[in-house]
Amino acid sequence: MNICMVGTGYVGLVTGACFAEKGNRVCCVDINRDVIKNLESGVVPLYEPGLDEMVSRNSRRGTLRFTCDIASGLRDADMCFIAVGTPSSEGGGTELKYVYAVADDIASALDRDCIVVVKSTVPVGTCGEVLDRVTSGLAERGLAGVRVEVVSNPEFLKEGSAVEDFFKPDRVVVGVASERARSAMFDLYSPFVEGDKIIFMDIASSEITKYACNAMLAARISFINEIALLCDVAGADVLSVKAGMSLDPRIGGHFLNAGCGYGGSCFPKDIQALDQTGRAMGLEMKMAAATSLVNERQKKILGSMIVDRFGKNLKGLKIAVLGLAFKPNTDDMRYAPSIPLIDTLLRCGAGAIAVDPAARGVAAKILPRCVEYADTAFEATRDADAAVLVTEWEEFLKVDWSECGERMRRKILFDGRNAYSPSDLRALGFEYYCIGRGCVVGGEG
Ligand SMILES: NC(=O)c1ccc[n+]([C@@H]2O[C@H](COP(=O)([O-])OP(=O)(O)OC[C@H]3O[C@@H](n4cnc5c(N)ncnc54)[C@H](O)[C@@H]3O)[C@@H](O)[C@H]2O)c1
Repeated sequence: MNICMVGTGYVGLVTGACFAEKGNRVCCVDINRDVIKNLESGVVPLYEPGLDEMVSRNSRRGTLRFTCDIASGLRDADMCFIAVGTPSSEGGGTELKYVYAVADDIASALDRDCIVVVKSTVPVGTCGEVLDRVTSGLAERGLAGVRVEVVSNPEFLKEGSAVEDFFKPDRVVVGVASERARSAMFDLYSPFVEGDKIIFMDIASSEITKYACNAMLAARISFINEIALLCDVAGADVLSVKAGMSLDPRIGGHFLNAGCGYGGSCFPKDIQALDQTGRAMGLEMKMAAATSLVNERQKKILGSMIVDRFGKNLKGLKIAVLGLAFKPNTDDMRYAPSIPLIDTLLRCGAGAIAVDPAARGVAAKILPRCVEYADTAFEATRDADAAVLVTEWEEFLKVDWSECGERMRRKILFDGRNAYSPSDLRALGFEYYCIGRGCVVGGEG
């Protein structure tokens, strides 16, 4: 199959490279010239395990190419995927201008039958609008005979394991309006997944499915975080509560880890968007609204814990921040809990020294210049008054706190991911704070 992939970010690049790997001919299109220039010269501009090799292998064998010119991408395309960003708009809804700009670009460049596949996460009704734009644009060009249809195919890959997720999806959700589209999508995905895991449905249901999944996962996180707050005031342990919940097969243990809140490019914006979509249709989405509210409170928790411990004036303190990305194995810092934490530290006068295995380059562009960076947790914690674990990268889970503690000005650790054992830290003489475990352990606290 010849595929044009418009939008070459996390989703578009991974999807394009994986389709190419299975023998399709893929042309990735992006308006960002730097992205395309980098990719043409073999530089993958984002961090995703396994992606570099796949991009270079397929570029070499000619199954993957890159361009800024959508007309070139569409020349032989049987399918055109739209995988551009759909960030939050100012009112908290979904900014669809990038999706519609691509629809208009397709309308002005397409001259052959094509299936347009919307992979971006979009509110219900958007695929219909994309179809209207493309067909009316073609009609204006006197090309009403060109057959176009729109398919909804939301993406469920997770940053950090995106390539693996794409090769082994739990399921593929496809919203179609015709047998022709259904059969083309089945052929495209059957090399990746058994046929019965390709779930066909109407387009509106497919659009809603993506939001429903993200809202359910985010709700579980906010739910356990709220339980963690109760555990803290009641002197209970949220890990025990989780253990007691998760063996119930109706509940399970996934997405029940209390921490410093969810971030990333999807959950925060998608939950807000669901709330807005409901409102626009006259329906109050109370679960979505509550999920966001609880998360906003939770993202401030590390800052509050530090202020509670040291007071509002943090002048002269040096705080080591372990982890900047919103989760391990990615450099994505969109809506990351590290951002409000660092904001609080700086506002209260502390010095922040941050370490992250992948997100340092991204951080340097978005965090204030006064933030310092270290290469390792060992280096970051030298002379620090406290360390804060924000992202549970593997290398931070293996930190030797005995060694780090010797070089810290004060042995104080705030664990935003409940990654360490309170008794181990106590044995090392640390004052240890965590989430929902009812405890300040050890030290003066
Ligand atoms: N990142 C994830 O983990 C993830 C997972 C599932 C779904 N999604 C959804 O997938 C979509 C894409 O997300 P992403 O994280 O890949 O975004 P991204 O910001 O990483 O990439 C989007 C790309 O689209 C390009 N672009 C914008 N307008 C364009 C245009 N008119 N023509 C060509 N290129 C254009 C941008 O330059 C950018 O490179 C979003 O709707 C997102 O919600 C993301």
